[in-house]
Amino acid sequence: MELFKTYKLWPIEPVKANGCYVWDSEGQKYLDFYGGHAVISIGHCHPTYVSMLENQLKKIGFYSNAVENSLQKQLAKELGDQCGYNDYYLFLCNSGAEANENAFKLASFHTGRKKILALGRAFHGRTSGAVAATDNPAIQSEFNKTNNVEFTPLNDIDSVQSKLDTKEFAAVIIEGIQGVAGIFEASSEFWQATRKACDESGTVLIADEIQSGYGRSGKFFAHQFFGIKADIISVAKGIGNGFPMGAILISDIFKARYGMLGTTFGGSHMACTAALAVLKVIKDEKLIENAAEIGAYLMENLKGNPAIKDLRGKGLMIGIELKDEYIDLRDKLLFEKHIFTGGAAKNVIRLLPPLMIKKAEADIFLNAFNSLTK
Ligand SMILES: Cc1ncc(COP(=O)(O)O)c(C=O)c1O
Repeated sequence: MELFKTYKLWPIEPVKANGCYVWDSEGQKYLDFYGGHAVISIGHCHPTYVSMLENQLKKIGFYSNAVENSLQKQLAKELGDQCGYNDYYLFLCNSGAEANENAFKLASFHTGRKKILALGRAFHGRTSGAVAATDNPAIQSEFNKTNNVEFTPLNDIDSVQSKLDTKEFAAVIIEGIQGVAGIFEASSEFWQATRKACDESGTVLIADEIQSGYGRSGKFFAHQFFGIKADIISVAKGIGNGFPMGAILISDIFKARYGMLGTTFGGSHMACTAALAVLKVIKDEKLIENAAEIGAYLMENLKGNPAIKDLRGKGLMIGIELKDEYIDLRDKLLFEKHIFTGGAAKNVIRLLPPLMIKKAEADIFLNAFNSLTK
C-alpha cells in the first residue's frame, strides 16, 4: 500500500528534535519557527514532558470514559486556573475539528437552532460541520455544503447584528486570531458588539482558540485582549505539544445530559498527562510572558523591512505579508537558511514557533530574513 497523496511534502524528514531545533535524516539542523503547525507549544522533547509521559505509560496509558479518571479532573482544575475560565466545564476530545464539531452540537442542543454563523476567510477544520464553517469551497465536498452555515465579513458589525437579530443562529464562531487566512484579527469593537448581539439574540459565542490559544498570542487566549468571555472555547494544537488532543471549555449556561457528547479516546491517561505537562511548563517557565516579549521583539525588528507589505499578529503568531517580488522567501528560508516557517495565502509567512524561543533564536531568524531581503 502507498500513502494517499493529500499533502504537498517538503523533501525533508525530521528525525530528531530538541527545544526549537529539528534535525533531518541527513543530520541537517533546522530552526523551527513553524512549531509543527502551531502544535509545539513548550518545545520539542521537553524533559518534563518526556518524563511525565514515560512514567504515565508505565502505569496506565488508556482506559475508557466509562470509568473515573482523576487526571481529567486534575487537568480541568489546572487549565481552568491558568486560563481564567475556572468556572467553566471541560470536555476532552482528540483534535481541533472535533472540538468545533462538539461546540456546534452543544450550541444547537442548547438553542434548538440549527444555523452557524462564521466569518469570511475562517478555518475551523476538515470534518463535516467544521469544514462547512470554513470559508473555502475548494475543501468542501457536496456532502459538506449546507444551508446551515452562513458567512459574514470579519469586523462587519452591522452584518453580524442583522444576522443574529433573525434568531436563526445557534452560534457564531470566531477565531482568536485567524491563522490559515494569513493572520487577521477581529477588532475589539467587533468582539464586543458580537458578544452583545449574542446576548440579545440568545446566540452562543464560540471562540476558536485552536491555533491562537495556549499562550501563543501573549495571553492564554487571544480573545482575552478584548475584555469579553466566550460561551464555548475550542482548543487543540498546543494543548498536547504533539499528543493529539482537543477540548472545549463550556460555560455553565449549558446543561449536560448523559450521552450528548462522547468519544472513545478523548481524555486518555496519556493525553491528560501530556496536557498537564504542557501546563506545568507554561507556568514554570513563564512561556506566555515570553511569547509576548519575544513576539514584540520580532515585530519591532521586522518593521521597515523592504520585503514586507504588511505585518500582523500578536505574541508568537505573526503574519508577514510579502511584496510580490519576495514570494519565494519561505522556500529560501527553508532551503538556504534552514528555518521552518508556516505559509498562508500565497504571500504570507506565518511565524508559529514554540513559545520557549529566546532573543538568540529571534536574532537568527531576523538575520536570515534580513540577509535574504537586502
Ligand atoms: C483555527 C483552527 N481551527 C480548527 C483547526 C482544525 O484543527 P485540527 O487540524 O486539529 O482538526 C485548525 C487547524 O489548523 C485551526 O487553525
